[in-house]
Formats: sequence, C-alpha cells, structure tokens
Amino acid sequence: MAEGAGARTITRIVRGQPTTDGAGVQLMRLIGQPDLPMLDPFLLLDAFRSDRPGDYIAGFPPHPHRGFETVTYLLAGRIRHRDSAGHEGVIEPGGVQWMTAGRGIVHSEMPEQEQGLLEGFQLWVNLPARHKFAPPRYQEFPAEAIPVERRGDGAVIKVIAGETSQGLRGPVDQPLTEPLYLDVQMPPGGLLTEPIPDRHQAFIHVIQGRVEGRDDAGQPRRIEAGELAILDGNGEIALWAGGDGARLLLIAGKPLGEPVARGGPFVMNTREQVQQAYEDFEAGRFTSSADH
Ligand code: CO
Repeated sequence: MAEGAGARTITRIVRGQPTTDGAGVQLMRLIGQPDLPMLDPFLLLDAFRSDRPGDYIAGFPPHPHRGFETVTYLLAGRIRHRDSAGHEGVIEPGGVQWMTAGRGIVHSEMPEQEQGLLEGFQLWVNLPARHKFAPPRYQEFPAEAIPVERRGDGAVIKVIAGETSQGLRGPVDQPLTEPLYLDVQMPPGGLLTEPIPDRHQAFIHVIQGRVEGRDDAGQPRRIEAGELAILDGNGEIALWAGGDGARLLLIAGKPLGEPVARGGPFVMNTREQVQQAYEDFEAGRFTSSADH
C-alpha cells in the first residue's frame, strides 16, 4: 500500500446510538446523532437488524419528506412503501429504493412480515438548494438488477451507485452528489483497495466481522461490526479484513457546502423554509404536489 500522499485514511471511528423512530422502530443511528450530526451530503444513516417483531412491527406510518433523498437498502425481510401519489411497492432482500423526495411526498414504510429477521439501512442524502423543489422521483432496483463484481481474492462487491476501479457501474443515477454506494464482502484476511473520488466525503460502516485500515500517521485502526469510520484525504482506501472476513458498506458523495436547516422530516437551507414545509404539510399541499 502506498502511504502518505494519495491515500484515504481513517480519521474517526463512530459508534451508533440506539434510537427509536417511526411508530417505535428500534435502530442504531450512525449519522444524524450528537457524535456525527452530518457528513455532507449525508444527513442520516440508520441501521436496523432484529428478529424480534416488537422492534420493527410498528413501522413508519405516513410521514412527509422534503428537500432530500431517502435511500433504503434491505439485507433481510420485506418493507412495503406507499405514497400519497399512489406509488407503491415492496423492497425485498438485496433491493434498494432511492427516493428523491424533492418538493415533498407523504409516504409510509411498513414491514411486510410479522416475524423473522428485518435488516437494512436508511441513508439520507441532501439535495442542493436549486433541486429541493424537484418533482418526487423513485429509482428502485431489486437484487437481480444490482451488478456484482467478484475479485480474484474472493471479495464480492455489489454496486448500488457509482463505479468501481474495475469499471462496474451501479444502476442508481444521481449526478448532483455523484454517490458511491458499495456493499462489500471480504474473505478472511482479504485486502480491499478502492479509489474514492477526490473531495468526496466517504465512510465505511462495518456490518459483520472487522477490518483494519491506517490513520494519517500510518498507524493501524481497527473498525468493528456496528462502527462507522470516516475516510479522509484523497486517493485510494486500503482495508484488511479480520480472520472471520468482513462485510461493510463503502459510501461516498460530493459535499454540497450549503447551509443546512433541518426540522424532523424536512431538510432545507433556512429556518423559514423548514417552517414553510411544516405549513405546507399541515395545509395538505404535499399530497397534491406529488401527483405525476
Ligand atoms: Co420516510
């Protein structure tokens, strides 16, 4: 591994904070909590994993969003989503829903199961000011539409968004933040090296096992399952899997560098715009704006 200039390094490791959201869903909040309020353009990352129905069965009944995108990626279980404009579907294991809320939608996200494991992630990606009132848009892909790269050492990479060093492109299209979203499985002792676009904000979230990277002094930093590590610098990241292998999300995006005003399910640029979103929602102006 080339060290120093030209490498991404581990600068910070963050643990998730147990949180309850929706109508009582238990989850771990990794981004959007006091230790890591945001990582521009990423506003929130929730991880949920439970086989106890009481942790997830209440789901997320109808609620609004405006000004950003919600990205749901499911590893196990099924989630039915339904919005105010009649758009409806079920996200299944290995599938992703990249929803651009834009000017506003009201939707529900409910488990389509009464028992068994429900596991996945929701990421919120900000939109630039000039696109916060874009029409709502869905990009939905089942597992079989997500390309898989198999590397010589046994690593398996599912490419949801962006492009790998070997040129495999994911199906999600979002030129505003140019996201990279990879689900990486590494064999025991495996080495992953992957370039990340310069100036993108980048992080990994370890799902299973553990990996080791280097900090900016070249010292080893170990990241355990459940943790998130911020990758600073420019160039390539190098990660070594532990003896049991590892599974992780590698996510990066172009920072927007704009003021962020958040209020619950609304993320705008100013307090006045957040207040306006609450007023529009209460006046029923979201449901009529989402028709297509
Ligand atoms: Co939602």
